[in-house]
Amino acid sequence: MQVQAKSQPLEQYKMYIDGQWVESASGDHFESDNPFTGQPWALIPKGGKDDVDRAVQAAHRAFVSGDWPKLTASQRGALLRKLGDLLTTHAKHLAEIEVRDNGKLIAEMSAQLNYVPQWYYYYGGLADKIESSVIPIDKPDNFNYTRYEPLGVVGAIVPWNSPLLLTAWKLAPALAAGNTVVLKPSEYTSASLLEFMRVFEQAGFPPGVVNVVTGFGPDAGAPLVEHPLVAKIAFTGSEKTGRMIYETAARGLKRVGLELGGKSPNIVFDDADMDNAVKGAISGIFAATGQTCIAGSRLLVQDNIHDEFVDKLVVFAKTATMGDPMSLDTQVGPVTNKPQYRKVLDYIDIAKGEGVQTRLGGAKAERPECGDGWFVEPTVFTGVSNAMRIAQEEVFGPVLSVIPFTDEDEAVAIANDVIYGLAAGVWTQNIRRAITMADRLQAGTVWVNTYRAVSYMSPFGGYKRSGLGRENGQDMIKDYMQVKSVWISTATEVPNPFVMR
Ligand code: NAI
Ligand code: MG
Repeated sequence: MQVQAKSQPLEQYKMYIDGQWVESASGDHFESDNPFTGQPWALIPKGGKDDVDRAVQAAHRAFVSGDWPKLTASQRGALLRKLGDLLTTHAKHLAEIEVRDNGKLIAEMSAQLNYVPQWYYYYGGLADKIESSVIPIDKPDNFNYTRYEPLGVVGAIVPWNSPLLLTAWKLAPALAAGNTVVLKPSEYTSASLLEFMRVFEQAGFPPGVVNVVTGFGPDAGAPLVEHPLVAKIAFTGSEKTGRMIYETAARGLKRVGLELGGKSPNIVFDDADMDNAVKGAISGIFAATGQTCIAGSRLLVQDNIHDEFVDKLVVFAKTATMGDPMSLDTQVGPVTNKPQYRKVLDYIDIAKGEGVQTRLGGAKAERPECGDGWFVEPTVFTGVSNAMRIAQEEVFGPVLSVIPFTDEDEAVAIANDVIYGLAAGVWTQNIRRAITMADRLQAGTVWVNTYRAVSYMSPFGGYKRSGLGRENGQDMIKDYMQVKSVWISTATEVPNPFVMR
């Protein structure tokens, strides 16, 4: 099922605007590749400014008129829960599409798609629990209360590494709050979100509440950020694009939520449970082929256990099976797209040029089971200093840099000495150390004796250049709302009109 003969016709997709499946205004398409075969398998509409305008206008109409603004919060919640149920029913199909378009492992996608509905259940449940206040106002003869209201049209721009999950993080709170949405998937992985919309259609949301415009960043992403009718941009992706979006959004005084990159430290102390820490290091960098914003790409190991730990890690990593991501046995899949594949290989060369030692991998994978796919060998570099580019820049691939440290102070200094601050891992059995390290690390998430855990209930986001704002958890729904203060005079007579009340 994975191998697609070149002669096989490409699956042709349409975009979803105002409740209709449509071609782009230009009628142009672009190919989407299967990273396991290295061959195109689908044609995606190449959206541009006109399509974005059409989608934003539809979302704006749906926000101000029709059924959506008339729904009670409980009714919005019910729609979101229905969507969650439908996603559960269609999880297998969506997982298979993601495997084909993205190269993600079926093992990971099956688990992920069983979890994604929780975002729709959680925020669906939260929709009617946003209570405002009656203020015990200090002015006599006045009744003052607040109202939480949606913002309007939200532009959601998502990357290729986990399209369905990262969309849920934005869509669920945005809709629960009563906004409408225009979604721009990555040009590398549009198919799963278009398939998702087929499921979404069945839930019964009014037309225009969610629209999808496919296309490239500058053609379809930029006009969405610039559009005057868009109130907020929710973005996950690279730091470079995030900065551009922030600047553009500032000109329109739009709100932004930015989830950007990371160079997360995974710190192993000599008192750690060694076997667990090895597994933690592996899951930090080789899971999802290292293509996660939370990748633990810098492994900080206490110097007295450094050699022994690296030996164990290399032995374990060597056993990783590569190959067809549709096979349940595969542990490391291909890199999702060709530019990213080249980027990872370039960084391997950069690291070698900086004088690191290659303990494992360090090249593209030439294993027969990898075929013509974009595979990179799981790579472990030692002799890395934190000042090197390989330790400072986000690679977004299966490339681990091991950096030794002597004590807690040095570990903290190295860990925090990057522009990013998305996540960090600490491996120790010492409770004082666990707590004080969690205090001292500049990261939006700290894991102790685990790695790569996320939940719809717990805030996620970056310190420093890893982003702005948070996703997940109860408070975050308010990032998709604004508060209004309502004053009602109970006086029988308007007092002196020439002074402030
Ligand atoms: P990107 O940040 O450029 O793309 C993310 C999304 O933004 C895509 O939907 C893209 O079409 C859109 N976009 C691009 N330019 C835009 C613009 N001017 N205005 C509005 N939207 C725009 O990431 P890309 O190029 O796919 O990957 C480059 C690098 O970014 C990777 O090598 C990786 O290091 C990093 N990255 C980080 C991610 C994370 O989760 N932190 C996710 C994806 C990539
Ligand atoms: Mg693809």
